[in-house]
Amino acid sequence: MSTALLELEHLGISFGALKAVNEVNISLFQGERVAIFGPNGAGKTTLFNAITGLNIATEGLIKIAGVDITKATPFARAAKGIARTFQITNLFFGLTVEENLLLATRGLRPTKFSFWKSSNSIDSENAIVESALERCHLKAKRRVQVKHISYGEQRQLELAMSLTSSPRILLLDEPAAGLSAVERKVMAQVIRGLPRDLAVILIEHDIELALSLVDRVICMYQGQIFAEGTPEEIRNNPKVQDIYLGRRTGA
Ligand SMILES: Nc1ncnc2c1ncn2[C@@H]1O[C@H](COP(=O)(O)OP(=O)(O)OP(=O)(O)O)[C@@H](O)[C@H]1O
Ligand SMILES: [Mg+2]
Repeated sequence: MSTALLELEHLGISFGALKAVNEVNISLFQGERVAIFGPNGAGKTTLFNAITGLNIATEGLIKIAGVDITKATPFARAAKGIARTFQITNLFFGLTVEENLLLATRGLRPTKFSFWKSSNSIDSENAIVESALERCHLKAKRRVQVKHISYGEQRQLELAMSLTSSPRILLLDEPAAGLSAVERKVMAQVIRGLPRDLAVILIEHDIELALSLVDRVICMYQGQIFAEGTPEEIRNNPKVQDIYLGRRTGA
């Protein structure tokens, strides 16, 4: 069997006495799309923080393509192909959509502090920006200041910015939170249209939306994984219905 792109082995993150993430084991393969479900406080965002290096794991290991990155800096992890979006939008509102993307594109490059650029590097930056605009349905808004686009478009832009580093693993933390029904549909199309070789982990409270987007679902409760399976298996799992879907039967 080939090596997983991302492996979490017996991962634990404690805040004092609280085990926010406890004994979590996950293998993610290239191109796989996985949703993480769980009620508020289940440890989903903390898990993302541990993968990206915002929180350092207190137990266990994190590997990318077999290489241990448990203690690596966030920058080193990003350079290995991990990108994320945040639950709260993180944009420059006074700049245009295109300018935000250009800044994100320069963020990871060795030339980021140099003023003079070769025309080759400008061409390649422009190609990255174009592709991100296209994938995230933002071409028509490229010259509009971020404060003047809708909230849904701001979330699309955030996703577009995370694509500019050409990641191998993309972590999406509630990309549809706060969106209208129409905006959710656009976001779902954007996620469906992501590069097929990109592995995606999606945290999402809109279960029907998430089930339509992923190959596999992992359910967390109080820091632990308590169920895992295909969207169909998860839909029919009575424990999941009890703890999360709120469809308790015979109660
Ligand atoms: N920096 C921190 N210091 C102390 N406790 C924290 C910290 N970050 C998270 N926690 C706690 O860890 C637990 C898991 O939080 P987390 O944000 O990962 O939950 P979540 O599953 O993402 O929830 P939600 O669906 O509300 O976003 C919660 O009890 C939270 O209060
Ligand atoms: Mg969260």
